[in-house]
Amino acid sequence: MTEKLHIIPHNHKITAEDREQKNGHKSAVLWFTGLSGSGKSSLAGALENYLFENGRQVYILDGDNVRMGLNADLDFSDAGRVENIRRIAEVANLFRLSGTLLLTAFISPFKADRELARKTVGDSHFFEIYVRCPIEVCESRDVKGLYKKARNGEIKNFTGISSPFEEPVNADLIVDTNLHSLEECLGQLISFVNSKIQMNG
Ligand code: ADX
Repeated sequence: MTEKLHIIPHNHKITAEDREQKNGHKSAVLWFTGLSGSGKSSLAGALENYLFENGRQVYILDGDNVRMGLNADLDFSDAGRVENIRRIAEVANLFRLSGTLLLTAFISPFKADRELARKTVGDSHFFEIYVRCPIEVCESRDVKGLYKKARNGEIKNFTGISSPFEEPVNADLIVDTNLHSLEECLGQLISFVNSKIQMNG
């Protein structure tokens, strides 16, 4: 990798702070983590609607969508998931620098990868949101029919069944989707985000 020696980063004039000023709010990455079927995408989508309607610069990166394009070459082995999250963390950082409030919805089952994402984006701009829901409840919802396939062996390395999910230990926010309605969880998220993105906060 000696080619790296010849890469000299360019410092562009417009800073992330300039972009935040223009948008009237801070930029950040809200990193949703949780089991398949826990409600990450639904909640991130509802939060995006709210923020968009309120004039915020907001965007979502979602597991199934990113795996159709940027990460189409990756599987669900441990190594595939590690590389999935490494790339997403880099992309998330670029969105953050662009002034955006970025919502990411990936299972991101490994603690070390979530920590890497926090380090890549920077601790003060990164908020880990644990969308918590017992696996039995996710499995009973089985929105995409994937748990059934995982149980009968059609899908290998399925998170929570044949591949681990390491629970967050220092999440910035925990949302319990089996205990509260979507509206209640959304309310919790909105208060949280509003408290983090004030320009003078
Ligand atoms: S991660 O583990 O690498 O973070 P990611 O969030 O990108 O996963 O993708 C998860 C989505 O892929 C799930 O919501 C589900 O629809 C689909 N999927 C397909 N195969 C698997 C599997 N083996 N384990 C988990 N999710 C899977």
